[in-house]
Amino acid sequence: MTALADTDVARLRSRFPILGRRNYLNSCSLGALSHDAEAYLDDFRARWHTMGASAWYEHWMGRLDALRTRAAALHGARPTEAALLPSTSAALSVVAEAVPRGERNRVVCTELDFPTLAYQWRVKPEIELVVLRSPDGIGIDPAQFADAVDERTLFLATSHVCFSTGYVQDIEALARIARDAGAWSLVDGYQAAGQIPVDVGASGVDIYTSGPLKWLCGGPGLAYLFVREERIPELTPRFTSWFAAENQFGFDIDRFRFRSDARRFELGTPALPTVHTALGGMDALESVGWDAAIDRRRGLTEHLVARCRDEGFTLRTADDPARRSGIVMVAHADPAEAVRRLDAMDIVVDHRPGHVRISPHVYNTVDEVDEVVGALAGMYT
Ligand SMILES: Cc1ncc(COP(=O)(O)O)c(C=O)c1O
Repeated sequence: MTALADTDVARLRSRFPILGRRNYLNSCSLGALSHDAEAYLDDFRARWHTMGASAWYEHWMGRLDALRTRAAALHGARPTEAALLPSTSAALSVVAEAVPRGERNRVVCTELDFPTLAYQWRVKPEIELVVLRSPDGIGIDPAQFADAVDERTLFLATSHVCFSTGYVQDIEALARIARDAGAWSLVDGYQAAGQIPVDVGASGVDIYTSGPLKWLCGGPGLAYLFVREERIPELTPRFTSWFAAENQFGFDIDRFRFRSDARRFELGTPALPTVHTALGGMDALESVGWDAAIDRRRGLTEHLVARCRDEGFTLRTADDPARRSGIVMVAHADPAEAVRRLDAMDIVVDHRPGHVRISPHVYNTVDEVDEVVGALAGMYT
């Protein structure tokens, strides 16, 4: 199943204390905290204690650069295409207001997207929001986008991985559909990097959002925004900050010019504790290599799906393994109660309407997957 040796897995697991205490299968809600992230946090606190504000210039600005650069590399983007924002919602709202609209007033998304994406346009009366319906409740065919996106479309906006079904969309095809119609492509990739390969550059997507919270084990408080370099000059943010200014430390209140790179979308001082934990989370996962990590996660997911099917569970997951990711939805009559009972057994999963949501990551084991399936079998209705 995996190229990782048992000793590599054991070493990786030892970096995440929760794994020694509980069967943690909920990385799509919150990636586990590592010793690596804690060490960065300790370093941050120590410098705050000993250096105060001078740590900004000597250390912390460098940390921001390091995070932009590493996040960009991990997503197949250039450092100049990366910006740090407080949340996905903030990133979406900045770009939603930054595009020149012309006559276009339509945005096409899907019912499987995380609602904060659609809300950006729900609140704009001048925008017609088209929500594509999923025929099987699991995924959307790119042909549905092709039918819906036309010369009235401002954005094709959707998810890379659907948060409630784990469905992996073909974002290259979606970017092409948007481009052919003269619309912007915007992809919410919060559930993607760290668990599936992501190459924003090769995908052709104009705008891609991501963040450290989930599969990158970096904690809450930040999001990553990537904007294709050649499209940056077309975008003029209407919400801004001194971090977006060409001469941030000029403190010239009478003049404002946007930076030429993607940092023109930044909205002020990023959450420094998260900048640190995000770097630590990346260090921890990178220790086994991203390809090996994704491979192992995939193997665990396939094992989970097979075991669930052996037990006769009803799954809400794509038939095609290439469209599946590490989010597995198991139908259940009372998912909240099932999650509570599993929690009492030290098995941590989550629930969404009608389903228990199980999300194994690279640091989980086959035994842990078998344990949750066995426990669920005892309470399956
Ligand atoms: C796909 C997706 N997008 C966005 C978010 C969160 O958005 P925000 O960073 O604005 O809280 C989540 C979950 O928390 C998510 O699963």
